[in-house]
Amino acid sequence: MVPSVLEVSRERAWETLTRYTKSEALLRHALAVEASVRAYARKFGEDEELWGVTALLHDFDYEIHPTLDKHPQDGAPILREEGYPEELIEGVLSHAEHLNMERDTKLKKTLFACDELAGFIHACGLVRPDGIETLEPKSVRKKLKQPSFAAGVHRDEVYSGAEELGLELDDHIRNVIAAMRPIAAELGLRTSEAA
Ligand SMILES: [Fe+2]
Ligand SMILES: [Fe+2]
Repeated sequence: MVPSVLEVSRERAWETLTRYTKSEALLRHALAVEASVRAYARKFGEDEELWGVTALLHDFDYEIHPTLDKHPQDGAPILREEGYPEELIEGVLSHAEHLNMERDTKLKKTLFACDELAGFIHACGLVRPDGIETLEPKSVRKKLKQPSFAAGVHRDEVYSGAEELGLELDDHIRNVIAAMRPIAAELGLRTSEAA
């Protein structure tokens, strides 16, 4: 049976994501990357729904495929079976450095640029009394230079991501912080309203 390609909708993608992902940390990561990629879609005048849903699903299979010999390549057939369009699936696949796929579209470049950085900014916010509310690029850059802080974040990917997107690192950091701020509470970050 050939599944028909479905309309990309955020609701459907959330349903797919939460069927495969139960970890709160992973769901928060998906939301942070989604917010960042959506902000860029608006900035670039691109298809915000497609970009947002691609970002939301980029690590959807990580919980069931936590190793690089499976993630995200073994997730792709699942997305295909569920009827997601190839553009989304290719985008999801391209975020993985080990697959060596050319990031030949703006969506792929943006997803790659936001993935590690959103994670890093999240980590910065977790150790600050006001989360990311007053976080500035300068202190993010300082933390990037401390290898022991959020050691799992690949610094080289943060730097090359901004470069591939053609952005100064500070501007990119500022954009991602601004994109994540409205959902800070959902991301488990402290906000002044919650204090
Ligand atoms: Fe991933
Ligand atoms: Fe990710």
